[in-house]
Amino acid sequence: MELTRPRGTRDFLFEEMKQRKQVESTLKRIFEIYAYQEIKTPIFENLSLFTTKSGEEIVDQLYNFKDKGERDLALRPELTAPVARLYMNEMQKNAKPIKMYYYGSCFRYERPQKGRFRQFWQFGCEMIGGKFPEADAEVITMAHHALNELGLEGFEIHIGHLGLLRGLLKEAEVDESTQDHIMGLIDKGNVEELEIYLNNTQIDNATKNILLMVIEMKGNSNILDAVKEEIQGHELALKALHEFSDLLETLDDFGMDNYIVNLGIARGLDYYSGMVFEIYVPKLGAQKQICGGGTYNLVETFGGEKIESTGFAFGFDRLMNALLHENTDLGISTSSEVFVAPISNSTRGKSFEIAQNLRNAGISTEVDLARKKLKKILTYADNLGVKKVILIGEKDLLEGKLTVKDMKSRDQELISIEDVVNYIKNSLT
Ligand code: HAM
Repeated sequence: MELTRPRGTRDFLFEEMKQRKQVESTLKRIFEIYAYQEIKTPIFENLSLFTTKSGEEIVDQLYNFKDKGERDLALRPELTAPVARLYMNEMQKNAKPIKMYYYGSCFRYERPQKGRFRQFWQFGCEMIGGKFPEADAEVITMAHHALNELGLEGFEIHIGHLGLLRGLLKEAEVDESTQDHIMGLIDKGNVEELEIYLNNTQIDNATKNILLMVIEMKGNSNILDAVKEEIQGHELALKALHEFSDLLETLDDFGMDNYIVNLGIARGLDYYSGMVFEIYVPKLGAQKQICGGGTYNLVETFGGEKIESTGFAFGFDRLMNALLHENTDLGISTSSEVFVAPISNSTRGKSFEIAQNLRNAGISTEVDLARKKLKKILTYADNLGVKKVILIGEKDLLEGKLTVKDMKSRDQELISIEDVVNYIKNSLT
């Protein structure tokens, strides 16, 4: 029997789990500050949920299978489509906007490499029914706030608007599937391949040139004037540009100016319709994108009303890589603060009683369960990194006392049993 992990999956051990939990709880706290509420959806869904509109990239990368009842199912590659499904099933009558967040694993059958896995985690949010620029602005601001709160440095927020590119293509009467293909090539960032493809289509030269120019435009909000010059006469693209400039103004009101306007963002998923954004940590190299999101209209695609939605997902594993790359202090404490050690067999029972008193007072406590000798207990406690060891000796007990040993200074103090919980509490703060 081969006992290896499946390709593209990982095990997480104690230290890594603590770090991940810490980051998860910070993200939860920030998302809740912005009034998002947590939801959970199934790990697998009907295959058709993802084949309807999630884009070629996703479809090729699905883990899909038939169950024993011959149903076509797929492990979720992302959570936006499941959340739109959940909205259709349960929430259509809720007051809008509905703000939801999620944390869960996703599965994509892709070539594993550093920062690219077959099972990975997303921490994301969806705001269903937020149709004004303020919804987009708040979502981007929250992503920025969360990364600041985590202490991440060196990240770049790139914001674009798909309405500009799609508007140009629509006016040039390019059909939707050709548009999707072009967006896919822009997302890949391979301009040469894009030019070859464009030259093989019927798109007029003027549109082609504008498109190739616009996707290279990056900078601060001032570049919008230059873009406006280029797209004069293209009404749909101008309308998108106007929307985009409203969004940038609203971002200003939210106090958010740490971004780069990047009109070359196309996103790998086909459901986006307006603002799109991606966050990069350049030092991560090829898998530098730690977050992606934007405005979309999946509810309408699924047969519901036209309802603007916006959201994003952090690639949790890449976010962890970025934080650990910089040795960001995540403020993680050791697992146990105290170790209770009976010195002889006769004090074993008392050691459990004292451990329970400490635990009931909320102090993380380990007690000897392996009947170790004291020397071994102290080595073990050192390895665990506990701060105090409580030694329970027969003679001390007769006097109603026990010994508290500080593992850093190695100093010992005799404390009465009644005082020990308070003593430990005070010494740990
Ligand atoms: P996405 O860009 O496909 O967007 O994925 C979001 C993030 O997940 C990426 O930015 C990346 O950090 C991470 N990610 C993607 N694939 C992998 C992988 N194989 N291994 C590790 N990390 C990965 C979405 O999934 C959209 N549903 C986001 C969204 C929410 N848009 C609107 N709302």
